[in-house]
Amino acid sequence: MTKAAKHGIELLRDPSLNKSTAFTEAEKQEFGLIGLVPDVTETEDLQLQRVLLQLSQKNTDLERYIYLVNLLDHNETLFYRTVMSDPARFLPIVYDPTIGEACLKFGHIYRQPRGMYLSIARRGKVKEILQNWPQKDVRFICVTDGGRILGLGDLGANGMGIPIGKLQLYTACAGVPPQHLLPMYLDAGTNNEQYLHDPLYLGMRKPRPPAEELYPFVDEFVEAVQKVFPKCCIHFEDWTGADAIHLLQRYREKYCVYNDDIQGTAGIVLAGMINAAKIKGTKLRDEKYLFLGAGSAGIGLADLICTAMVQEGLPLQEARSHVYMFDINGLLEDTRTDLLDFQKPYAHRHAPTRDFAAAIESIKPTTLIGVSTVGGTFNQKVVEAVSRVNERPVILALSNPTDHAECTPEHAYTWSKGKAIYAAGVQFPPVHLNNQTFLPGQANNFYVFPAIGMAVFATQAARVTDEMFIEAAHAVADQVPAELLKQGLLFPLQSNILESEIQAAARIAKVVFDSGLARVDRPPDMVAFIRRHVYKPDYAIGAVRTNKAA
Ligand code: NAI
Repeated sequence: MTKAAKHGIELLRDPSLNKSTAFTEAEKQEFGLIGLVPDVTETEDLQLQRVLLQLSQKNTDLERYIYLVNLLDHNETLFYRTVMSDPARFLPIVYDPTIGEACLKFGHIYRQPRGMYLSIARRGKVKEILQNWPQKDVRFICVTDGGRILGLGDLGANGMGIPIGKLQLYTACAGVPPQHLLPMYLDAGTNNEQYLHDPLYLGMRKPRPPAEELYPFVDEFVEAVQKVFPKCCIHFEDWTGADAIHLLQRYREKYCVYNDDIQGTAGIVLAGMINAAKIKGTKLRDEKYLFLGAGSAGIGLADLICTAMVQEGLPLQEARSHVYMFDINGLLEDTRTDLLDFQKPYAHRHAPTRDFAAAIESIKPTTLIGVSTVGGTFNQKVVEAVSRVNERPVILALSNPTDHAECTPEHAYTWSKGKAIYAAGVQFPPVHLNNQTFLPGQANNFYVFPAIGMAVFATQAARVTDEMFIEAAHAVADQVPAELLKQGLLFPLQSNILESEIQAAARIAKVVFDSGLARVDRPPDMVAFIRRHVYKPDYAIGAVRTNKAA
């Protein structure tokens, strides 16, 4: 038997090695565990049964979330075995929508640290601080400054729940081994008055600095990561719209970075559009898109759709003419003086208007995309207007959490008289209307970014490119069976998510090799290559973790 690095109570307290009631008699003897655990040897399935029983006794998803985080703190393998046993049931608990509530209360439900907290007050010392992290081969850092958490606004340090949850999905959805993942909060303060006055708030109590102060701090962080974790990809998550776009532009050509709110959202929505076009028998370039919201998610998506239309043969300028955007100040058009540089390509010649339904009547979009953070904005007038100008309007109500969705599927199907092809950013149950069952899809980024992560992990990609996200979108779209597509389902079923993402990761990995960005040798069989890297929630032999990094 292999030797465990740890013995006795120290071994039981290491969540990556702890097997709890599953240690065998021989392991108990060898590792000094006799008497420290009950005198039984349970199977992993029996342990899972106990977890499911205890979860069933909790009354709310937030309680289930707290229970599962606690389980992760004690027994990582059992946590992942639980989540991966039924992704459709557990992903909404460990991530969206429960995570939104968990973040709002993060300082109150906090039990013990997870990931790293780096404050702007430590400028000049970032490299030394990163060296405090015990795992030396970090492959992904998911980093937020808490600036725009989901659709909930500035949550400051409470936003740390997001990098923690996002990285769990790398493992649960695509099998990236958890020991290579590092959640990170960059603390530059918060403008959230409630938290500034909450004694249990865990971040710096000062207002956010201007970009001229914030960006040099982020520069120091990004450069320190290159030195301390040279194979690491930095995943930016939930920064405010302008920071998200500017920081991505700042680093994307130089380092291995991506922003999931921009590129991951764009990838998954593009997958939905590819399938909506399949249902309608059209191509992306035949459609006209009207966005409600022109922030980081909206702009990222608009840019990626244009790149995809260019791949379909349209010149870029013409592709952009298929995309209109509307924000808090009305339609983006060429007389507006308040637009940011990255919004201007979508400001076409059109009379100014703040009336979204009227804009639909004049632009005649085929697809509405809600990324506004404001619930109910696709009201009856809006849905009826887009249904008047289309046989099959595509309505994507992507803002989350649930009550921020621009419209519910029930409203979309009812007000469009069953004509709408609908998807949301969160999970909704099927809708029964006039003897028909409609399956609203969830345009959740977790179909895309874990697969990108797995491909980057396995290939040791030097950069993350838009071509990788476009391939991910096609790969995800291709996995919806024809019979479900007919019922309006735009995204694959969550029950089979690991296999879907392995297939997607293999296709993305091929793009990485084709573009010369891989830092390992090209394998003969891409799917087998990805499978070799997949983490399995099985206990390590002799209490020593056997997963090896690529
Ligand atoms: P953001 O804060 O960068 O942008 C929001 C945009 O909405 C801004 O352009 C703003 O002017 C506009 N807006 C706000 N109120 C409006 C109103 N009443 N009418 C019209 N426009 C309005 O936010 P970001 O990052 O672009 O995210 C937007 C939403 O998309 C969030 O709710 C987020 O949860 C959701 N999202 C969904 C994803 C998914 O479903 N896969 C992934 C990423 C984001």
